[in-house]
Amino acid sequence: MVQLQDVTVRYESGVTALQNVNLTVEKSEFVFLVGPTGAGKTTLLKLLTREVVPNEGTVIVANKDVTKMKPSQVPYLRRLIGTVFQDILLLPDRTVWENVAFALRVTGASSSEIAREVPKALETVGMLHKAKAFPSELSGGEKQKVALARALVVKPLILLADEPTGNLDPTSSLEIVDLLLRINRQGTTVIMATHDKTIVDAYRKRVVEIVGGRIVRDELRGVFRRELA
Ligand SMILES: Nc1ncnc2c1ncn2[C@@H]1O[C@H](COP(=O)(O)OP(=O)(O)O)[C@@H](O)[C@H]1O
Ligand SMILES: [Mg+2]
Repeated sequence: MVQLQDVTVRYESGVTALQNVNLTVEKSEFVFLVGPTGAGKTTLLKLLTREVVPNEGTVIVANKDVTKMKPSQVPYLRRLIGTVFQDILLLPDRTVWENVAFALRVTGASSSEIAREVPKALETVGMLHKAKAFPSELSGGEKQKVALARALVVKPLILLADEPTGNLDPTSSLEIVDLLLRINRQGTTVIMATHDKTIVDAYRKRVVEIVGGRIVRDELRGVFRRELA
């Protein structure tokens, strides 16, 4: 589903954010991407949506070479990928329902499709009862659930979550990760960047650790930190 081959990213500032990174993520996998701040986690995720283009190497998403993609093809790539972030950006003057509907409308979906899919997505994240609320009326955890519904409503092949629990209390954090796992079990490939040790250690999923732009560990049932021998 995702393949990085010998990828190096140097920003114009001169910072090398990723160096000779090789990573394969299969369809329906769940991956925790861990590492300290500045390690290159966000840069890696941005390669997949082509917000960042590598200086060297190849990035393949859903069998397409993203590095060779024409700008006109990028919107199609982005439709395959749902994203949620630490900073939850909902439209403040629209209801929960409208926030989710908007994501579907921009893909050219019909009104009947919107009427069918928006409640399904809100139901999945347990937010259908708040459909008429405005973002300012929601807790942080509830906002993140709406952001997740918005990412899901377009039925992405891949879901990228960049520190999605970074601003949430422990209970809401676990709810969000439980939802990501549920979505993953339905077949969506999920990559979650995090530095929440409790979460990573609780779930024992594949852990890919980046330090200083290099992958230093890739374990199938990993924990946050490599266990010292
Ligand atoms: N747009 C940018 N321009 C220049 N340097 C950047 C940019 N984005 C990130 N960096 C640098 O690249 C490195 C990796 O950053 P990032 O991918 O955001 O790491 P992480 O998400 O793991 O905290 C850091 O040194 C960061 O300062
Ligand atoms: Mg980051």
